[in-house]
Amino acid sequence: MQQAAARVLRGARTPQVLSPPVRTPQVLSPPVRTLPVRARSAPAGSAPLGLLYERHGEPAAVVQLKDLEVPKLGDCDVHVKMLAAPINPADINMIQGTYPLLSPLPAVGGNEGVGEVLEAGRRVTALKPGDWVIPADAGLGTWRTQGVFPEKMLLKVPSDISVLCAATLSVNPCTAFRVLADFESLVPGDSVIQNAANSGVGQAVIQIARASGIKTINVVRDRPDLPKLVERLMALGADHVITEEMLRKPEMKDIFKSIPRPRLALNCVGGKSTTEMLRHLQPKGTMVTYGGMAKQPVMVPVSAFIFRDVRLRGFWMTQWRKDHVQGMALWSLMICETPTMLSMS
Ligand SMILES: NC(=O)c1ccc[n+]([C@@H]2O[C@H](COP(=O)([O-])OP(=O)(O)OC[C@H]3O[C@@H](n4cnc5c(N)ncnc54)[C@H](OP(=O)(O)O)[C@@H]3O)[C@@H](O)[C@H]2O)c1
Repeated sequence: MQQAAARVLRGARTPQVLSPPVRTPQVLSPPVRTLPVRARSAPAGSAPLGLLYERHGEPAAVVQLKDLEVPKLGDCDVHVKMLAAPINPADINMIQGTYPLLSPLPAVGGNEGVGEVLEAGRRVTALKPGDWVIPADAGLGTWRTQGVFPEKMLLKVPSDISVLCAATLSVNPCTAFRVLADFESLVPGDSVIQNAANSGVGQAVIQIARASGIKTINVVRDRPDLPKLVERLMALGADHVITEEMLRKPEMKDIFKSIPRPRLALNCVGGKSTTEMLRHLQPKGTMVTYGGMAKQPVMVPVSAFIFRDVRLRGFWMTQWRKDHVQGMALWSLMICETPTMLSMS
């Protein structure tokens, strides 16, 4: 099973061509044909509801629960009842107006979630009532009870996984899958180091790596209940869990007596955490930055470039989807394979 998972990771490797940084936010096209709204008035449960913002700002100040009108079902449309939708850091940044991708206003919040098809238009080919669907791209506005969406904006997912797994499948686990697959050709026995290892992405990295026979060194911030967190991550399949302070300690050498130095470092934080993590990367290894939780730049010692020739890369799931829009099959395959790897460990 481990070899099969490793094969899936290697097979999924695609050349990664990143576009230059986006300087001005891209404005998405509206996911629904109309978004008429009115202040909430109907009794609970009687009308479709959505968490909507009409201007950018702090979510607590600008997001309101409002009644939404569900438009008439078109021939190529699908009427969906939402089952669950998470709150991701990017959702918050979109509402704040600081994300490189913004929805036209007014907008319903949320980019991820799972819904059940209630009704499908006459020309809908791949979906039927009862199917579970997730957004095919960012900007769907998933924080709502119901919606009518064009079929092409939805992707069918297996309905024999948990609602929570389905609702959180397309962003964090897929990011974890891609950063493990696209930058280094890892084989069983190789190791990966990552910070913010207890994040949604980090936990998926632990599980997918374990399912593929790849060792993980997981860096977390210190906290009073650290042993509990260590236990939880080890139960997911982590090989080592250390604090950011430990990254500088000589005892780090002990870890590399039993596993090789990592060829891949995954950076979700930035700032000091990243610089320290980079010290342990193998020469010619790659560090992939996918998050910036500390809101600090990545600092790299000159010696890391000159004497160890480390490679620094970036990853954005939204861009990956855009670059692979012709490869919907690859995207669907990943969506179907990832839950297996998550449940294996
Ligand atoms: N590039 C992409 O395509 C992509 C895809 C998915 C997610 N992301 C990004 O990845 C990041 C994590 O997302 P997620 O949904 O996995 O988040 P999450 O589950 O909410 O976890 C957030 C993590 O960040 C850590 N953290 C928060 N503030 C920090 C700080 N100042 N210094 C160090 N660590 C800090 C938290 O550690 P504590 O427990 O110690 O607070 C936790 O481990 C976000 O920036 C998100 O936008 C990017």
